Amino acid sequence: MSQYNITVVGTSYVGLVTAVALAECGHIVTCLDVDENKIQRLKSGDPVIYEEGLKDLMVKNKDRLIYTDDVKSAYKGADVTFICVGTPSREDGSANLDYVFKAAEDVINNIDRDVIMVVKSTVPIGTNDKLQKHIDESNCDFDIEVVSNPEFLSQGTAVKNMLNADRIVIGTESDNAKRIMAEIYEPMGRPIVFTNRCSSEMIKYASNDFLALKISYINEIANLCELLGADVKDVAAGMGMDPRIGNKFLNAGIGYGGSCFPKDTKALYSLAADHGYDLKLVKATMEVNELQKMRLLEKSRQYYDSLEGLNVAVLGLTFKPGTDDLRDAPSIVNIPEMLKEGANIKVWDPIGVGNFLKNLDMIDECDTDMITVCDTPIGTLDNADICFIFTEWDEIKRMEPEDFAGMNNMIVLDGRNCFDVKKMRSANIIYSSIGR
Ligand code: UGA
Repeated sequence: MSQYNITVVGTSYVGLVTAVALAECGHIVTCLDVDENKIQRLKSGDPVIYEEGLKDLMVKNKDRLIYTDDVKSAYKGADVTFICVGTPSREDGSANLDYVFKAAEDVINNIDRDVIMVVKSTVPIGTNDKLQKHIDESNCDFDIEVVSNPEFLSQGTAVKNMLNADRIVIGTESDNAKRIMAEIYEPMGRPIVFTNRCSSEMIKYASNDFLALKISYINEIANLCELLGADVKDVAAGMGMDPRIGNKFLNAGIGYGGSCFPKDTKALYSLAADHGYDLKLVKATMEVNELQKMRLLEKSRQYYDSLEGLNVAVLGLTFKPGTDDLRDAPSIVNIPEMLKEGANIKVWDPIGVGNFLKNLDMIDECDTDMITVCDTPIGTLDNADICFIFTEWDEIKRMEPEDFAGMNNMIVLDGRNCFDVKKMRSANIIYSSIGR
């Protein structure tokens, strides 16, 4: 096996998981981040983010992992650099590439040998070619070959996804870069797709936008099922048995969130628009999702005209289970609306509360004193007039109808189809979910 010296810049989900996985493959990995506090925590063995299995792998590979905030020393001796910095949405939906170009500049200015510059950050199609051109025009003393290598990690299962990747996509037409990339990933033994840089970048966006589209599609079918007396779970199961459709990502719910689908749909739409093309399906995907996020609040109107003065229980805050991430989570748009109406809100989430409280600061015109954080789902339901479920945590799915008995009014609006409809209704719970 060939061992490489690799520098990974950016230590959030993608960067840290990539770094740890590369160390697990036997490479020596330097993790660089501008956030000094984060680096201190990483040095002490704290992964900062919650991701199953990450901490164990950090400990296991500690002799091959170096953490630093010093740009100058981080690139000394590096054969390969991985850029894993954020590409947040700008106001107009396009991806902000400032961090990527800043990281590339640091590589140009600090390397001491020829390097392969791998871009893992999700960047619009054409960015890697632009980056190569920019580098070729700079006065760097060394050769830098830019390679696109998008990530396909899902939060909550990122370590597993990385080590057992369905495919590793490598965008480069250079034989030297192909060889080095294949050697880096060889210990993982996963299938590799070689393509040019633009196609590699497109694989990432087209995959994420297709998954988002699949979710919006099943959500619309679910809304229609409610009107026509069909059950979307049965419908999805029946559809999914056709291998051309597949049974994954057909769970209807209160919309997709997270740091990827919302951002990547906006970015591809905006990129297409810049090239004079109206990407209609992606636009519809985004519109359906925005409406879907408010679906439970809309349903609550069947029972109460307003939530003013009511005790509202919220179970689950994160955009999906297994992560503490709240970016674009349905809870983030629903809870401010509830607060504006004057509800008294109790919330429960096993790991998302810390980030939720940070988010509260960003909620304007809301009286956050009206929010109480609870330790258990059952405690959250005490005296509640209505319950909203935003995330399908196992602790919620394991609940029995009698666990809702402490509510004033047993009205349960479930955005993630956690329970059996008949079982809930036979316990006299007014239970409404998505598409059933
Ligand atoms: C997503 C993709 O699944 C990854 O392949 C990709 O690498 C990643 O984005 C990325 O670009 O970095 P992630 O955002 O972590 O991963 O989460 P998902 O598991 O895909 O879930 C996204 C949202 O879709 C969640 O809010 C989830 O509740 C929702 N969802 C998912 C549904 O509503 N229904 C489904 O059937 C599946």
